[in-house]
Amino acid sequence: MPNIVVVGAQWGDEGKGKIIDILAKDADVVARYQGGHNAGHTVVVNDEEYILHLIPSGIIHPGKICMIGNGVVIDPEALIGEIEGLKSRGIAIDNNLFISKNSHLIMPYHCIIDKESERSKSIGTTGRGIGPAYVDKVARTGIRMSDLLDPQLFREKLELNLSNMNYLLYNVYKSEQLDLEEIYSKYMGYAKKIGKYITDVSILINKYIEENSNILFEGAQGTLLDIDHGTYPYVTSSNAIAGGACTGLGIGPTKIDGVLGVSKAYTTRVGSGPFPTELKDKLGNDLRSKGREYGATTGRPRRCGWLDVVVVRYSVIINGMSGIALTKLDILDEYPNIKICVGYKYKGNIYNEMPHESSVLWNCEPVYEEIEGWQESTAGIKRFDSLPDKAKAYIERIEDLIGVSIDIISTSQKREDTIIKQNPFKDYLLV
Ligand code: IMO
Ligand code: MG
Repeated sequence: MPNIVVVGAQWGDEGKGKIIDILAKDADVVARYQGGHNAGHTVVVNDEEYILHLIPSGIIHPGKICMIGNGVVIDPEALIGEIEGLKSRGIAIDNNLFISKNSHLIMPYHCIIDKESERSKSIGTTGRGIGPAYVDKVARTGIRMSDLLDPQLFREKLELNLSNMNYLLYNVYKSEQLDLEEIYSKYMGYAKKIGKYITDVSILINKYIEENSNILFEGAQGTLLDIDHGTYPYVTSSNAIAGGACTGLGIGPTKIDGVLGVSKAYTTRVGSGPFPTELKDKLGNDLRSKGREYGATTGRPRRCGWLDVVVVRYSVIINGMSGIALTKLDILDEYPNIKICVGYKYKGNIYNEMPHESSVLWNCEPVYEEIEGWQESTAGIKRFDSLPDKAKAYIERIEDLIGVSIDIISTSQKREDTIIKQNPFKDYLLV
């Protein structure tokens, strides 16, 4: 049975939560492979809104197995808050959530360093300690989930880390030092609450693969926020791309059967960094208010602009995408003219492929193709045939430009307001 990765094709916030929720119906397992509670995945079911940060969006479907892989960094307080919030809304968690022993813990000093280092870096991070937690992972000084279950070892690791961190906090950031006993007892309290979910997720997910289960790999952030392939340094600190599913869960590349990219019908970005099609005018503000473009995690207003197919085409290649889910089509309903960015112009050169030079990305001028808007409502449309012809033409033009099909189209936040031309679990070719 197919195993499908769902991955963001832009700078995050593409609507992955809704798409995963829809596909989860046909999945047995939904697994997160990277990122942390910097993610904000919104799912609307029966007019009820759920915003998930760490727990896979599949949890809203009763009985689905949800896993958090070794590639994720976890703030236990945030995790517990999310578990309790979901439980209070009647969502079952205890028998279907599994957290990797090898995932790394976000510690209190990570959040402080994240915020302090923003002053010189100005990346516009979510301030959740994500970057510094990954720094410790790669430096081989990180504390892992399994350490929570071994109080003596946890204490030794905390002591060692804290002596370095307190030096840094005091001498470099002129910030208050943290107390060992306080953190130790807090984290031991967390261990009591989440210990039961901690397991060897890699072994477990491979068992499900062997049993021919349908598995959905849930990416957080987006391709352009990937640490290696994104608009570095204005990126997050993990591999958000589809390849991250292998390292972030411990599965082989041969086990992935398809990759569904998710892209908005326009573009947004939250935080700093180059954004060639950004509209800093009235139109950008209008897109923001129509699309309710405010961060699900930080509440920050998102920067908005026209669809950039240089970005999406690049994402198709980097992720080996099988198809695309296009979201928020209805937000473009009223515009008489709609633009698609097909290239960048910089110092007399035209770039049709994603350039990585920051001078080009910051200073280029988008080359636009303009198409006529459909100027009628597409909100709630559930069949491709029912879309206005001009909306179909917009979709088909994007398909031509990016080289893969648009298999799913979302026409509102609601689960049911979705056109499914191809269901990855049923229609993607098995490798
Ligand atoms: P979802 O999964 C949008 C952005 C931050 C910042 C940069 C680095 O909801 O699509 P970090 O805190 O990760 O070190 O910040 O990445 N960012 C996101 N933007 N959606 C997200 O997740 C994001 N997660 C991080 O705004 O620019
Ligand atoms: Mg988000």
